[in-house]
Amino acid sequence: MSTSRRKAAPAAPMLPGLFATEKTSPARPAHLPPEANIPAIQAALRDWFCTHQRALPWRINYTPYEVWISEVMLQQTQMERGVAYFNRWMQRFPDIPSLAAAQEEEVLRLWEGLGYYSRARNILAAARQIMERHGGVFPRRPEDIRALPGIGPYTTGAIASIAFGEPLPCVDANVERVIARLFDLDSPVKQEPAASRLRQLALRLVPKGYAREHNQAMMELGALLCGKKPRCALCPLAAFCISLHLGIVAERPVPGKRASITPLEVVTGVLRCGQEIFVQKRLPQGVWGNLWEFPGGRIEAGESPEEAIQREFAEETGFNVRVAGSYGIIRHGYTTYRITLHCLALTLEDAPTTVPAARPPAPPILTAATDWRWLELPELANLAMPAAHRKLADSLATQNSLLT
Ligand code: ADE
Repeated sequence: MSTSRRKAAPAAPMLPGLFATEKTSPARPAHLPPEANIPAIQAALRDWFCTHQRALPWRINYTPYEVWISEVMLQQTQMERGVAYFNRWMQRFPDIPSLAAAQEEEVLRLWEGLGYYSRARNILAAARQIMERHGGVFPRRPEDIRALPGIGPYTTGAIASIAFGEPLPCVDANVERVIARLFDLDSPVKQEPAASRLRQLALRLVPKGYAREHNQAMMELGALLCGKKPRCALCPLAAFCISLHLGIVAERPVPGKRASITPLEVVTGVLRCGQEIFVQKRLPQGVWGNLWEFPGGRIEAGESPEEAIQREFAEETGFNVRVAGSYGIIRHGYTTYRITLHCLALTLEDAPTTVPAARPPAPPILTAATDWRWLELPELANLAMPAAHRKLADSLATQNSLLT
């Protein structure tokens, strides 16, 4: 007898979600709408965090000081670098009194490389304010935390919940991703209407009594599983996730407008006189306020880097400089700028040619700085400098004679 398929009776239609996939793939658990399952989401997240959290130095004692410093650092950098910066910081400033007593210069040096140096200056100002107004004890009330210099809603929520257990949310980019996917927010999360909905959902999700674990679990989940390449098979919230259920996880969060990146052509000059190099301390306002630098600035339209550095030195220091060579180009990306830094070797136009050259008789006339020094190369290690200038200083230290 023929067993041909054509003659077989047609299969009965199967009910979706019950038996249809039974033989070919494991049954998918039913979707549980998140809005109706908040306690189950909180429990799943907490269990997951208990077993999967990373061991981090501020997760031992959870002092408000450690939580504060770690949170501000993590706004600037990835976890691995953040841990290295945190450990270095805590070795030097183990508590609020030691920080409050520090010189700004040393604080900036420890912060160097993290960027947004106003954050470091605000940390120092806040530590001093805690000494003066709170007797050296980190304030507990969210409104007092928020009133400290440089502390915004995110950092307030993080310190209040992680250090003190206050049921406040803290929403960073990781949490935005988790919530946008879990609840399928279908417009950019930084703009209305999604921004308000996200804030409401974040608050609703925080369980009383477990704010510390919950907020960290949300961030940890966003960092470890719900990242740009989501690993949904391992996710403790998979059963609740609307965008996973709809097969559109990759389309959430909906991207917002990207900040445009401006390319900048900039020049800087390493002016030597004998064994010493000229550096100046930037004005307190603006980017890199109070950091040390080799003078320089933007290359204007139609100018060569050599012309630009002579103009910049004349404007900023009153020195007449001669270009003796080039150290090459350093490229560095900032949040909204991409700079190409032309690095030139300079001597004073009217410097004595005898070796060793005498120190220039006249001090500079500063127009873009508050202080200046002539220093030998190893001494640059003690100054806080913008990242691109540090790269240049490091390359001078390793390739002292690199003139091209
Ligand atoms: N990102 C910022 N703060 C964090 C924290 N406390 N845990 C995990 N990721 C974070």
